[in-house]
Amino acid sequence: MKNLVLVGFMGTGKTTVGKAAAERLGMEFVDTDCIVEAAAGRTIERVFAESGEAAFRELEAMAVAQAASRRGAVIATGGGALGRPENVAALRASGVLVCLTARPEVVLERVLAQGIDRPMLHGTDPLERIRDLLAARQAAYAQADAQIDTSDLTLDGALEAVMRVYHRLANMGSKMGTTIAGEEPKAVHAPCPRCGAPVVVRQVQGDHCQSCGAELNLFAPHEDDTAEDFLHVLTGEKHLLVLGDGTRIIAHL
Ligand code: S3P
Repeated sequence: MKNLVLVGFMGTGKTTVGKAAAERLGMEFVDTDCIVEAAAGRTIERVFAESGEAAFRELEAMAVAQAASRRGAVIATGGGALGRPENVAALRASGVLVCLTARPEVVLERVLAQGIDRPMLHGTDPLERIRDLLAARQAAYAQADAQIDTSDLTLDGALEAVMRVYHRLANMGSKMGTTIAGEEPKAVHAPCPRCGAPVVVRQVQGDHCQSCGAELNLFAPHEDDTAEDFLHVLTGEKHLLVLGDGTRIIAHL
């Protein structure tokens, strides 16, 4: 079973939704912040205060590697965990990355209500700091397989949205492996979903468009999903093409 990896900014619901998702799926819940605290023997607040952010990021990278090595787990990551490419690679290889998002005002409200010190928000204007950090991390978060805005969702609503995306993407993964890759992968000739140039996609993942550089991934048809479902969960620089036989090509930039 692929891991369900929750990424995204603080206050978006990763831990709360992650615990509920783990219970629903009967999977282990792993929190990279907890691994950091256990390894350091100190709270994150103290790690930041006594050793600085750089030391925290080292511990976090170790925690991410450890969490990503689990199988069949729901993993909640710290808000800055996608800052290092090696963290992104390890988490991507381990499962489906779902990014939870929320409006800056909602983030602030939730963080204040939790009453947990967030060293990254220290300073005079926390809302401004949230906006700056969100802008700086936008590209990192866009690497997730799907984005879900939890601003106006209840816990149950967020859980249902995460479950839908996880089942769909985890399932597509196994279908990709069996239906399209098979024993002998076939070459798919099609226009690039992003720029329209002719492309030949020979592998399930990792082929690139020669014209625009988009990464091209193949997905097999799945009886209960529609093209709109894909577009609903895939945002940002991702483009979808549905071929006549139902095969989907998704281009990432
Ligand atoms: C951080 C977010 C925190 C924690 C640390 C740094 C960040 O995790 O890892 O305080 O850089 O955004 P949560 O996102 O779980 O609050």
